[in-house]
Amino acid sequence: MNEEEIKLIASQLRKPKGEYAKKVGVTMNEGNLLMNKKTIALLDAQPNETILEIGMGNGLFVKDILSIDSTICYIGCDFSDVMVQESISNNQIYVANSQAQFIEANINKLPQKPSTVDKLFTVNTLYFWDDVSLGFSEIKRVLKDKGQLILSIRPKSVMDDFPITKYGFTTFSKLDAVEILTQNGFEINEIVEEEEEELDFFGGKLKNGFLVFKATKL
Ligand SMILES: C[S@@+](CC[C@H](N)C(=O)[O-])C[C@H]1O[C@@H](n2cnc3c(N)ncnc32)[C@H](O)[C@@H]1O
Repeated sequence: MNEEEIKLIASQLRKPKGEYAKKVGVTMNEGNLLMNKKTIALLDAQPNETILEIGMGNGLFVKDILSIDSTICYIGCDFSDVMVQESISNNQIYVANSQAQFIEANINKLPQKPSTVDKLFTVNTLYFWDDVSLGFSEIKRVLKDKGQLILSIRPKSVMDDFPITKYGFTTFSKLDAVEILTQNGFEINEIVEEEEEELDFFGGKLKNGFLVFKATKL
């Protein structure tokens, strides 16, 4: 794989677009399956909760939340128009009965009214936020008092071995993430750290794993 191809993959992971976008969505489902399942387990969605996800990709895992209880309301925001369309198409039943809604939006400017969300989660997006403080202030604005944030990332020690990360990714160690959550007004309740099987990727074996932070808005 040459540098141009690596750069293309990096930009598609940041914001899937054009002819490759649908395929990228499916590839992310496969590569990030365990991470998404673990995140949804920690989210622990309850009846009557409003849940907001930032950067849901093609929304394949939304059914794992909405099948828990018919009173759960899910909103997905992603700044890729193709991922919004794919999410709608993958969740037609839940969109039709108004349990799910998908909106094209950037973390920098969320469309939700203040204090309307019980729990917010985001998987593999922190690397791409162009203003981390603004992102957290938007999250805090839309979360209710004592609302919960579930933030899932692959740590710097994993990401920095991927050739793609030099093109537009910011990577975070466990300590970096603890610091930014704390500095941005969240109390960390739980940290899950998991190793995954090595990845056969980019012509070699790469170590793999993820971190999930469960935190409460102070
Ligand atoms: C690497 S993909 C991860 C998708 C999915 N969460 C997963 O873990 O498989 C990143 C997703 O977040 C979206 N995204 C990245 N930065 C964003 C931002 N600033 N605001 C909203 N969505 C963003 C992208 O369009 C893309 O769909």
